[in-house]
Amino acid sequence: MRYCPRAPSSQWAPSKRQILVAYPPRVPLARTPTPLQLLERASDRWGCGKRIWIKRDDLTGSTLSGNKVRKLEFIAGHAREEGIDTLITCGGLQSNHARATANVCAQMGWHCELVLRGRAPEETGNTLMDRLFGAELTIVQPDRYSAGLDSLLQEAAGRQRALGRKPLVIPTGGSDPLGIWGYVAGAQELASDLAQAGVGSAGIVTATGSGGTQAGLTLGMGLFLPQAPVWGFAVCDDAQWFQDKVRADIEGAQLQWGDLRGPKPQIRTHDGYIGPGYGRAADDVHQRIAALAALEGVILDPVYTGKAFHGLCQEIPLGTFDDVTDIVFVHTGGIFGIFPHGEQLWRATDALMAAAD
Ligand SMILES: Cc1ncc(COP(=O)(O)O)c(C=O)c1O
Repeated sequence: MRYCPRAPSSQWAPSKRQILVAYPPRVPLARTPTPLQLLERASDRWGCGKRIWIKRDDLTGSTLSGNKVRKLEFIAGHAREEGIDTLITCGGLQSNHARATANVCAQMGWHCELVLRGRAPEETGNTLMDRLFGAELTIVQPDRYSAGLDSLLQEAAGRQRALGRKPLVIPTGGSDPLGIWGYVAGAQELASDLAQAGVGSAGIVTATGSGGTQAGLTLGMGLFLPQAPVWGFAVCDDAQWFQDKVRADIEGAQLQWGDLRGPKPQIRTHDGYIGPGYGRAADDVHQRIAALAALEGVILDPVYTGKAFHGLCQEIPLGTFDDVTDIVFVHTGGIFGIFPHGEQLWRATDALMAAAD
């Protein structure tokens, strides 16, 4: 694996398009810039002549790693300005966003309440870490969660106010017009990485769960490297749902922040690799994760990045990326999600070893 030479971030000016964007207040929580790496062996095996790169946003931190921290930088910046002392958010029991929010609260000295969809607490992966960060867990049966998430969040806010706290409710995945700034900044960084690596343009691929990462990247690449198309590979819902959600987040941001106005962005979402459903994965995804880990030393997760990377590899020979010679896979993190899938991943390594014999 080859690391690209990087310039210090203060030397940002590689593109002929000098775009000045005034970012909203931000708490520097992420370890950025993250590396852009060329996956040489994965390109040889799955690229069909294209180069596959990986943007290591799984390295934005340790326990506060992945894509969520980029969004939370801006959400925490807003919260700090408003004198907020409690963050409330939601997600599945193994939500990476919930864990990242719990971590941010612990770092900022704030209280955290997580409204989590599930049947009982799990003592592994992200849920364990939520507890370690001191978050208050409100676990809600899946039916009730799906039927009334908004009122559950408002009830949580009411409870916190009654205790004298000043709460802020963050929507699922931190995906709203404020959170998507995280990936406008991420796109600026990626455009700089590509220029440093001498790559004129590339297709950008990300996993899509609540749409904010795709929205920020679509908007940001449109500003900083307009010839780079962005694809989201959905891990739940369908392409039309994300088409609407990503557009709403982008339009919301453009309305709120004049700096982000630009040409109408093209939204590309693929929903063919969701498999058996959110949080569950078929053997082919577990096997792709095991294969990439052994080939390049990079671990994907079975809920988000494993499915998106599997989709990317499957789509290359089908011609989806024929317009580009280079593809950047944005590794959005999720490492703690491998533990609840330990058995299936272990079996996948057995299958790999048996095939190598
Ligand atoms: C590891 C990981 N990758 C990708 C995503 C998808 O990001 P988004 O919710 O912004 O669509 C999430 C969260 O949902 C995630 O936790």
